[in-house]
Amino acid sequence: PQVVFVTSEIYPFSKTGGLGDVLGALPLTLHRMGIRTAVVTPFYGRLGSAQFGVHLAWSDCHVGYPWGPITADIFQANFHGMPVYFVHRSEFFDRRFYYNDHKGDYFDNAERFIFFNRAVMEFLKRLGPAPHILHAHDWQASLVPAYLHYWRQHDPFWQDTRSVMTIHNLAFQGRFSSRLFENCGLPPQAWSPEGVEFYGDFNFLKGGIACADKITTVSPSYASEILTDEFGCGLQGVLRARRHKLHGILNGADYSIWNPGDNKFISCNYGANALKGKRSCKADLISELRLNPALKERPLLGFIGRLRRQKGVDLLIDILPRLMQQDVGVVVLGEGNLEKEARLLAMMEDYPGRLATLVSYTEDLAHRIQAGCDIFLMPSTYEPCGLTQMYALRFGTPPVATAVGGLKDTIIPWPDKQATGFIFEQPTPQAFYEAIMLAVSVWRTMPDAWQAMVRRAMQQAFTWEHSGAEYIELYRELGMQ
Ligand code: ADP
Ligand code: GLC
Repeated sequence: PQVVFVTSEIYPFSKTGGLGDVLGALPLTLHRMGIRTAVVTPFYGRLGSAQFGVHLAWSDCHVGYPWGPITADIFQANFHGMPVYFVHRSEFFDRRFYYNDHKGDYFDNAERFIFFNRAVMEFLKRLGPAPHILHAHDWQASLVPAYLHYWRQHDPFWQDTRSVMTIHNLAFQGRFSSRLFENCGLPPQAWSPEGVEFYGDFNFLKGGIACADKITTVSPSYASEILTDEFGCGLQGVLRARRHKLHGILNGADYSIWNPGDNKFISCNYGANALKGKRSCKADLISELRLNPALKERPLLGFIGRLRRQKGVDLLIDILPRLMQQDVGVVVLGEGNLEKEARLLAMMEDYPGRLATLVSYTEDLAHRIQAGCDIFLMPSTYEPCGLTQMYALRFGTPPVATAVGGLKDTIIPWPDKQATGFIFEQPTPQAFYEAIMLAVSVWRTMPDAWQAMVRRAMQQAFTWEHSGAEYIELYRELGMQ
């Protein structure tokens, strides 16, 4: 392959959030644009294996590992014509969750992902010839640029390979005790501020940023935000020093999946010029969630996301009592924090028939909420790109969102003539509440303007071909033919 993607998630094999969606679409888009791509990812033990013919391709691939001889089996799938390789080692990856359970991060995450990154390097050597580009995603893959940087200095195999490090979320860095560095396979000089060392700790993502030949993140706005003290998560200095290598490339949305016109998860398909179907999706969602049927004629607001500070769930919880005094319905789908889950579930009792809290991770329900709601809520405190607001636009559900990162880059705010949604500047409960009230009043009092906005939203196209072309240009700058 010319380009090998290294990732801890790829939809539909694995996913906890947007990372999975991106890797399920970008490599395949590039493959269709004529680049020979492949993906390497962990085998989590629950793959839809029959579907893509997952089979054992290499057994006993040796991985240089300090705690004794260790091997990986490599499975292979044919994902619409593109190879996906799975690194299999059951004691590391065959778990219910990928990175953490409700008690917190897995205690052996450093070992698990050191193993994964090394296995990728050794497997690729065995696969040969070396790819032109190694494209690593997030901290779980960010030792790959570091290995490449140090190893190619003396290993001719890697001489012509260049690396790209994509940051999907700077807040997750893979920061571990220095003790784990010793046996990770990097030379002693990597333990320095120019390498993986960060205030005395072993920081995977920092190593990726410091060693990669190019760094990208998933929207132009986030690319400039992460250079500031406010959004830099401590890495702003490292990023500023390498800013000439940093590019913001907006994600795309996979409209073959997130599309109300051809969608097996929703009860009635619809399009920008045939919006009747959206009304039936709303009615069906209301009955599926046992909400009050009167809501069919009221604004229905939806939230989908990890229940974390990033997603602004604290703002949502704060304003819900006030919001529920209005004549609206609210649907919340999310999980991720026991306390916030409990708060949202308890509130449901206070507003029977008008607030539905669903604590689960349910792919098909996400589609029905996108289709059945009138307004989408996304009060993120920061958002590297955000895919759910792009999906909401395509489903004709104008978002109310904070002025951060990718939200700023994808939503045209009311009252612009081209408006596709609502943006509020400060991530405060009051600003969020006022923005929702504005959206609700436009919905109620200006039905024609609302419909026009819905149509415009649905016609926005954040295609992967567009983003893919930007990545190809970047690879070419790194010498890919
Ligand atoms: P992030 O990656 O930060 O979580 P994105 O907006 O990029 O945010 O992507 C989130 C993805 O995860 C979307 O595909 C969204 O539909 C999905 N998702 C998040 N929470 C849930 C949930 N509870 N159930 C189903 N899908 C979810
Ligand atoms: C991260 C970010 C999200 C982005 C996704 C895919 O999870 O939080 O904003 O859309 O990665 O790049």
